[in-house]
Amino acid sequence: MGDAGAPPGTRTVDRSQTVTPEQYQAALDGLGIRFTAIQTRQLISPDDPRSELRSSIEMREGLILAGWAQGARVLEIGTGLGVSTVCLAHEATEVVTVDPDPWVRSALCLPSHVLQLECFEQVQGPFDFAFIDGLHDRASVTQDIQNCLQIVKFGGHIAFHDVNQPEVRDAVGAFPWLSREAMSTIGQLTRCGVPFREEAR
Ligand SMILES: C[S@@+](CC[C@H](N)C(=O)[O-])C[C@H]1O[C@@H](n2cnc3c(N)ncnc32)[C@H](O)[C@@H]1O
Repeated sequence: MGDAGAPPGTRTVDRSQTVTPEQYQAALDGLGIRFTAIQTRQLISPDDPRSELRSSIEMREGLILAGWAQGARVLEIGTGLGVSTVCLAHEATEVVTVDPDPWVRSALCLPSHVLQLECFEQVQGPFDFAFIDGLHDRASVTQDIQNCLQIVKFGGHIAFHDVNQPEVRDAVGAFPWLSREAMSTIGQLTRCGVPFREEAR
């Protein structure tokens, strides 16, 4: 179907409607991601309070994240159940993932090129790409952005999960020079380009 706002002869494809969950899962299967994701989900029963705090990314988001991480050194804020970690690690050269909860570091079995850390202060940059999915209140997201801006390279990217949540959206929106750069949103994932530091101040 054509799109009224698009130039003649072109059309807009809404991937959320044209690609079924089964097709996404098939693609993830192709990357070998499904098995590990299910393994990590099984670590927490639904009635464990941790399961709410650690709701993971969806299948198709994992596929998108894997694409964004291709060939990159990646920082992840919020390991959670490690679903996003595994997807990032599939394509990244290295992943450093941070989560203050000791359970996360003891329970997950992640690929050897994933380094699990307790806090941002232990992280050593630089990184090509950062994925922020820690706490979702405005102050925490703001702090995560400020931290990532210290160590993501010029021309690199920062991606967020759950920008549909008001506090996350407000935190990202307070950095207009960040969201102005090459911003794309797919599902609940938003990716922004990191501008030159001078511009960021
Ligand atoms: C929504 S979960 C992440 C889910 C993960 N992306 C996945 O796909 O499995 C959020 C995680 O952020 C962690 N967290 C809380 N405070 C944090 C902080 N200051 N830095 C990094 N992670 C934090 C929580 O312990 C929790 O495990």
